[in-house]
Amino acid sequence: MHALKVLLLALSLYIDSVYPSSIQVPLDLRKNKPRTLHGRFLHITDIHPDPYYTPGTSQSKACHRKRPKKKSDKAGYYGTPYSKCDAPFRLTNYTLDFIEENWASEVDFVIWTGDNARHDNDRKIPRTPSEIYTLNRSVAEKMKKIFLNRGIPVIPSLGNNDVWLHNILTPGPNSITNEYASIWSHFIPFHYLQVFQRGAYFTVEVVPDELAVISLNTMYFYDSNKVVSGCLYAARDDPGNLQFDWLEVQLRMYRERGIHVWLSGHVPPSPGNYFSECYIRYAELALRFQDTILGHLYGHMNADHFFFLEAIDLVPKTKFKFTNGVGLYESLLKDFSSLPKSSNVVMDEYAVVNVAPSVVPNPYLPSFRIFTYNTSRNAQHELQGALKKEKGSKRKHGHDRGDKGNKTTHCQIEAHQKTWICHLNDPWHSDPDSPSRSNQRWTPLGFSQVHFSSPINCKRPPLINCAAVLSSKHQRRQQKSPTAF
Ligand SMILES: *[C@@H]1O[C@H](CO)[C@@H](O)[C@H](O)[C@H]1NC(C)=O
Ligand SMILES: *[C@@H]1O[C@H](CO)[C@@H](O)[C@H](O)[C@H]1NC(C)=O
Ligand SMILES: *[C@@H]1O[C@H](CO)[C@@H](O)[C@H](O)[C@H]1NC(C)=O
Ligand SMILES: *[C@@H]1O[C@H](CO)[C@@H](O)[C@H](O)[C@H]1NC(C)=O
Repeated sequence: MHALKVLLLALSLYIDSVYPSSIQVPLDLRKNKPRTLHGRFLHITDIHPDPYYTPGTSQSKACHRKRPKKKSDKAGYYGTPYSKCDAPFRLTNYTLDFIEENWASEVDFVIWTGDNARHDNDRKIPRTPSEIYTLNRSVAEKMKKIFLNRGIPVIPSLGNNDVWLHNILTPGPNSITNEYASIWSHFIPFHYLQVFQRGAYFTVEVVPDELAVISLNTMYFYDSNKVVSGCLYAARDDPGNLQFDWLEVQLRMYRERGIHVWLSGHVPPSPGNYFSECYIRYAELALRFQDTILGHLYGHMNADHFFFLEAIDLVPKTKFKFTNGVGLYESLLKDFSSLPKSSNVVMDEYAVVNVAPSVVPNPYLPSFRIFTYNTSRNAQHELQGALKKEKGSKRKHGHDRGDKGNKTTHCQIEAHQKTWICHLNDPWHSDPDSPSRSNQRWTPLGFSQVHFSSPINCKRPPLINCAAVLSSKHQRRQQKSPTAF
């Protein structure tokens, strides 16, 4: 009975997804007419739909089976907040339908940072690649229908639960990168498909010649992925190193063309998540291209927070450890208490990483974010920007990077000269007048966090009653006047 239901669900998703994707149309934004910008974009992450989720079952059985006696142990109808369960497909649909109805015509692009499969939290029902791909395909089809068909670019990135085995991704091309190249073919610009098959990263000019979003494959930086060497400087063919080499080229090109860019991905760049060498490379590029990068948007943590990449992180340390019993909250307090007073802050030495809460209510409430950004044109400012670019605003910095003995002698060896560790002293491009630092066209202005409030366990139809529990923390429509370009 249960198996039949799952089969039917899988089948209906399959049918839904097979027909529209039989003709593959590569994404080419240039073909579209210039759009009217609304100054908003959507960041959505960690949907984690679970086809086995069954309301009324036991939370201790991953919300898959058993009828618990205690009401508080029961799986809810739209999901089970504060639990370890994944989300029913109903919640995915409801969230995306809500977004379609309320936001689809109000956002300029969508950043979608991964984990579209359930967790592997039930030994009785192990995940299979075909289940994962079927789910991925159905969520991707829905994203395409809601956004891409309206001319709104969607930039997905690969999550650690989007691969099978969980957390493991070998260097591409491989069956996973090929499968996603197919599932996401509508989202990936045609000329990046080959790069994508190798590394599962790509970039999209969401506003041609002006604004771009880079989707990184953080699986090659994530220290749970035991099949890569984690950006070791001597491992030049490590997929993490190849990805950073590629990222550096993209950032340099965007900078030369005066294009501003958001970096996005699944696992956020922190010393606790990344291999230490990958983390250094990330932080270094974030600071070196700080006049070009608008911000860093990530998921994976299922918790609403932000943190800093700092210049002092560029000195390799021994591996970051969580002390036993110290949670995120305590670590954050400790981190923030060690920040310098604002009058002493050298802005150039920091970049902010924004981590969005998840759609899956594990462990909190289902959420997504609508960011607002400045779309106004200011001719005078652009002129100043162009002049500044010519003058160059490079800043030398004096950090001692690299823990590889004496760097001067180390980098005299020819084989080492070609590695990233001997290029950590490249000057930073910092500019107090760049959009990440002063309010102008492309400057992020804030975000509204839309969330299901508790209880999300509303009853079966009429569904309309449930809509009332979806609310927005802030005024929904900020910044009313759209600007044409
Ligand atoms: C979710 O939506 C898809 C189509 O968009 C539909 O085929 C599927 O039956 C829906 N699933 C649930 C559980 O509502
Ligand atoms: C996407 O595919 C991966 C396998 O590569 C899988 O682990 C994940 O569960 C899939 N996502 C969905 C929504 O099924
Ligand atoms: C590293 O080596 C160079 C040249 O051999 C020397 O001038 C420099 O003082 C050394 N630096 C340190 C920190 O030992
Ligand atoms: C956008 O930037 C311009 C400067 O170019 C500024 O005058 C304006 O107030 C900004 N808009 C918002 C909504 O902050």
